[in-house]
Amino acid sequence: MKLDPRIKRMTVPGLRARKGGVPLVCLTAYTYPEARVLDAHCDMLLVGDSLGMVVHGLPTTVGVTLDHMIMHGQAVVRGAMRALVVVDLPFGAYEASPAQAFDSASRVLRETGCAAIKIEGGKAMAETVAFLTARGVPVLGHVGLKPQAVNVMGGYKVVGKRRAEWPEIESDALAIAEAGAFAVVLEGVAEPLAAKITAECAVPTIGIGASAACDGQILVTYDLIGYTEEQPRFAKKFGDLSSDLGKAVAAYADEVRARRFPGTDQVYRTKD
Ligand code: KIV
Repeated sequence: MKLDPRIKRMTVPGLRARKGGVPLVCLTAYTYPEARVLDAHCDMLLVGDSLGMVVHGLPTTVGVTLDHMIMHGQAVVRGAMRALVVVDLPFGAYEASPAQAFDSASRVLRETGCAAIKIEGGKAMAETVAFLTARGVPVLGHVGLKPQAVNVMGGYKVVGKRRAEWPEIESDALAIAEAGAFAVVLEGVAEPLAAKITAECAVPTIGIGASAACDGQILVTYDLIGYTEEQPRFAKKFGDLSSDLGKAVAAYADEVRARRFPGTDQVYRTKD
């Protein structure tokens, strides 16, 4: 898609500067047509590795590869003209060392044209965040419930329900921000803790199952439009595209079976 020079794209510093301002509207996007629709309404589009589950039907995000992320990242960048596009680094593509993370991140930036990458992890990833940021890779952090760690956690568990857990999660978010992340996703974090971290953190917090006090919100788009089979409690269904799609396909099936489709408007006649 050609960029219209009159349309200003959100930048990493622009998003960073929204700390404490009008809440950031963020959603996941996985395909070109989705990006085209969402772009007009969002400050940031995240090509989340949730695509492994909601698009490809994998049981967790652990099986997602860098090639998956790059292919979907390319499609979303082609469809988005004004939102900042961020692509997740998948499990196994960054945890071994800062150098491994740089190799993966530079590939994602070069091959998709996105503006930034996201990695999961707190203090353990702070060195990697600093390494990447110092080398021209903007990083979005992700702390709290970390879906790539599902096998360690034994499921998807909200964190911070007990105050004794707070210092650990708080220091994770602050370590990532201090290391240079331009914003931090807080996923599945008890509401008062998410609000406290937001007040303490120098960069925007983007909540998912967190708090309205966060500097922005993100949802898995398929939860919002009624495309997922099982919705997490924190997600709100703002539409029901599954039902609309079902109705459209049922109408098509009826017309095909009754030989009403294709009709006269959908067929080509000869000229002589
Ligand atoms: O993969 C994803 O979609 C995410 C969001 C839920 C933040 O990481």
